Amino acid sequence: MRTVIIYNSLLGTTKRYAMWLREALEADLSKANAGHRSALDYDMIIVCSPTYIGQIRLLGYLKKKWSVLQGKTIIVIAVGMAPPESPDSRKSYENIPPEIRNRIRYFKLPGKIGPAGKAKVRQENLQPVLEYIRSIRG
Ligand SMILES: Cc1cc2nc3c(=O)[nH]c(=O)nc-3n(C[C@H](O)[C@H](O)[C@H](O)COP(=O)(O)O)c2cc1C
Repeated sequence: MRTVIIYNSLLGTTKRYAMWLREALEADLSKANAGHRSALDYDMIIVCSPTYIGQIRLLGYLKKKWSVLQGKTIIVIAVGMAPPESPDSRKSYENIPPEIRNRIRYFKLPGKIGPAGKAKVRQENLQPVLEYIRSIRG
């Protein structure tokens, strides 16, 4: 499956995950809205986005590109400080329109603010994502 990782990152955490994923999957990597790669060329698109003030930052990108993305295998990875099961995380997930939510596989991974949180951002956090991808790639 031709795979691309589309990411956005303000403080570098999401970029870190995106680069680890690229290494593990030998996928292409592109910053969202950078314009040099088209989702059309890929079968699997992994959208990696930080969460700020309750919003998955690339939600706008997902909505804008949905007509191109739908029908492809879409994985959304939201990075943030709020634990996956917290009401805040639930809310930001539920901000994804249901017609998109029902067609994606979603993961929330630990983010950080400042050097103190560094230990939370580990390559192993990607394990469930990689297991899922391997299960569908065969
Ligand atoms: C102003 C601000 C608001 C944030 N809001 C959220 C939030 O609503 N939910 C969450 O899970 N994390 C939140 N975070 C944590 C960031 O998502 C976390 O720092 C993440 O690692 C940032 O990703 P980046 O380094 O790729 O920019 C917030 C961080 C800041 C600085």
